[in-house]
Amino acid sequence: MIIAIDGPAASGKGTLARKLAEKFNLAYLDTGSLYRAVGLTLLRQKADPKDPNAALAAARNLDHRLLNDPDLRKEDTGRAASIVAAIPDVRTALLAFQRDFAAKPPQGMAGVVLDGRDIGTVICPDADIKLFISASDEVRARRRTKELQDKGLNVAKESVLADLQDRDKRDSARSDAPLKAADDAHLLDTTELDIETAFARACAIVEQHAAR
Ligand code: CDP
Repeated sequence: MIIAIDGPAASGKGTLARKLAEKFNLAYLDTGSLYRAVGLTLLRQKADPKDPNAALAAARNLDHRLLNDPDLRKEDTGRAASIVAAIPDVRTALLAFQRDFAAKPPQGMAGVVLDGRDIGTVICPDADIKLFISASDEVRARRRTKELQDKGLNVAKESVLADLQDRDKRDSARSDAPLKAADDAHLLDTTELDIETAFARACAIVEQHAAR
């Protein structure tokens, strides 16, 4: 079983993906962390994330230890990630890893959950279940601010909101694999839902599919 989850920044897709993976015994891949790792590499090299050659080299030689680096979740890493993610060669360099993961779940797992921006449209267009998670800008900014503050980072909601909007605009406007719902995705707006309710709705969609 392949579950594809897409949506804008801080929509709650990561939390839902993780919980679904645990409940249905599926392997989980947070594809945003790949783009974040490329962005972080460039920030640490003091290179310009817009530099296509530097970004492509970082994507081709991705250091997988960076996927657990605490700086991965910072807002400036997110910004660099969305800049490198607009470079088509960078996306191509990261494609095979994501498709392989989806095709070969680790032993014993019943399938995979991938979350990102283009999972249902480009990476796994034949996914069994596609979810597109959204929430209002205000709610997403509130959730992301709390998440960063809980990690001990000193951030203000206004700047988090501006960052999210800026990133969503770039992610939606790019020509290659823009952020958008697949035609056959189930839309889940979590603005008014707490995580347990959102999770229950997502489980119902998966179970409905499994019963078919
Ligand atoms: O966690 P959050 O929703 O803030 O972002 P993320 O999923 O970690 O993704 C960081 C950035 O990577 C996004 O803003 C996108 O530009 C890019 N990305 C992408 O282009 N395609 C994906 N499948 C996943 C992320």
